[in-house]
Amino acid sequence: MAGRFPSEWIDEVRDRSDIVSVVSEYVPLKRKGAKFWGLCPFHGEKTPSFSVDAERQLYYCFGCHAGGNVITFVMNMERMEFPEAVVHLAERAHMEVPERTGADPAPKKDRDRLYAALTAAAKFYYKTLYSPQGERALQYLHGRGIRDNVIRRFGLGATAAGHASLTQHLKEQGFSEKELTEANLALERGGRVFDTFRDRVMFPIFDPRGRVIAFGGRVIGQGEPKYLNSGDTPVFNKRRNVYGLNFLKGGRRDRLRLVEGYMDVVSLYQHGVDGCVATLGTALTPEQIRLMKRYAPEILLTYDGDGAGQRAIARGLDLFEAERVPARVTVVPDKMDPDEFVRARGGQALEELGSVDATTYRLDALRAQFDLDDAEARARYAVEGAKVIRRLEDPVEVERFVGRLHEETGFTRETLLEQVGKRPAPQDEARRLDAAQPDGMARARRGETKAEDGALRAERELASLLAAGERVPEGLIREEDFTDPACAFVARLALSGGRSRIQEALEQVEDEALRGDITRLLTTGERVDPERRPQMIADCTDRLRLRRLEREIDDCQARAARPGLTLQEQVELATRLNQLYDQVERLRRGAKGGEP
Ligand code: UTP
Ligand code: MN
Repeated sequence: MAGRFPSEWIDEVRDRSDIVSVVSEYVPLKRKGAKFWGLCPFHGEKTPSFSVDAERQLYYCFGCHAGGNVITFVMNMERMEFPEAVVHLAERAHMEVPERTGADPAPKKDRDRLYAALTAAAKFYYKTLYSPQGERALQYLHGRGIRDNVIRRFGLGATAAGHASLTQHLKEQGFSEKELTEANLALERGGRVFDTFRDRVMFPIFDPRGRVIAFGGRVIGQGEPKYLNSGDTPVFNKRRNVYGLNFLKGGRRDRLRLVEGYMDVVSLYQHGVDGCVATLGTALTPEQIRLMKRYAPEILLTYDGDGAGQRAIARGLDLFEAERVPARVTVVPDKMDPDEFVRARGGQALEELGSVDATTYRLDALRAQFDLDDAEARARYAVEGAKVIRRLEDPVEVERFVGRLHEETGFTRETLLEQVGKRPAPQDEARRLDAAQPDGMARARRGETKAEDGALRAERELASLLAAGERVPEGLIREEDFTDPACAFVARLALSGGRSRIQEALEQVEDEALRGDITRLLTTGERVDPERRPQMIADCTDRLRLRRLEREIDDCQARAARPGLTLQEQVELATRLNQLYDQVERLRRGAKGGEP
């Protein structure tokens, strides 16, 4: 939805929505020290690790690391988008809601009419299913093993074969033709208005709050197109919605199972498989991933076992990776889709298929393309497999999969690590420069993990002190010194003097994990005794400057080892290296070196 509320008004909503009282409406809180504590509403727990900082107006859970401010809290609890959450809080504070500026697709009143028309349509379709007009559709559903209680739960329906039965029905109820075409329930052709869906089994599509927003209509039996879906309307955007979220009982869960088809969701539900959702006739989108992430920390891809399904998994995993949402894969055997599988073997059997992580899935899929009895194919598999492993950030994970590749191909771990790890092969300039970068593998092999951890700790301490309002002497530290995304975020705000906009900035962070990390930094700096802060700041800046120097040294050394340097270049590099060593030496001795 386009259109923005004035930011001063949002500020006022925030000011009038005390986080302690808003959170208390969902979770009983007890004051303990400077903070309020309660059981976290975002994950199951028996002892309180959910904290609310009244002074900073932030919450943070030490158990699941959820964090944010009053608006993001409402977004997560009520599963609302940002504007909805702001309106919700405004209404709670008895504030008037202003017009949004910018292009807003339809005023609220018009949208309410569309919702009403869509709900009336769903009721009509459901009634039709159990009328003589819906007999074929009902037989079809029963023939696929769908029971009446499940039909009812999902609100499945039927459209009669006629041209305008829904249109006529809704017009009698007072809806205008314009409203019906806007809701995509009817089409206008040459001045006449027809039903969009005819002679189909109807799947109402709901938004997370349970309002009907669109329909998918399946042909009864064979035919093309198999599914007809509502186009986008002022209340429906198929890239931003996920089928089935409204049916999830009991709120947030450990995982969601993402399947391809409406029928899969319905059938899996009937077979007792919990937490299934589907996309809406388009390929998976980042928006859908962000939406699902609000319901579960992990997504289980359970796509069709055929080639198309497997290709969709490969693409889906890349998207999940880009969104930094953990995804696993359940491979459905024998080219079946999940619906066929549970009908043949039951829901329990599907759960028992288990799941594999993204890297295992990618390597399995790759391996299936090679004949490992053939030496050349083994080498190609090793090369391609190394590319898969290179995407991993954790050295431990890298080692685990290098081990697997070693077992499968017979190449030594050393060689495979080299293939994976961007370690400089002599004469390979691009890779050599790469190696100077802070890269998990290279670091692990140079035994630098510990040193990096020290630097990371320094980043965190410094960022939380900056968040607490401490200042660092001009020029000593730069934004690029922070490699951790949460620290970089806080440092950027603090160093640019934007600390007062912290609440607003926090709301704009879509990545929940990142927002949690940032909140943690924001709420921990205060704990440090003010007396100790100057020393801590000095230590941390020294540590980060040391890292900066060490990196530049790595870089210079890499360049110095390059063949074909002119004498002048060699001299320049050597001079620079000497300066750098000197500065490192002084830093290590605790003297204040000059700015490198
Ligand atoms: P499937 O063909 O796997 O559908 O397409 P399905 O839900 O399993 O249906 P059955 O079991 O064959 O009856 C997966 C999804 O892709 C979209 C629909 O959302 C469908 O649920 N789709 C498929 C379309 O939008 N249009 C089509 O023509 C086909
Ligand atoms: Mn199917």
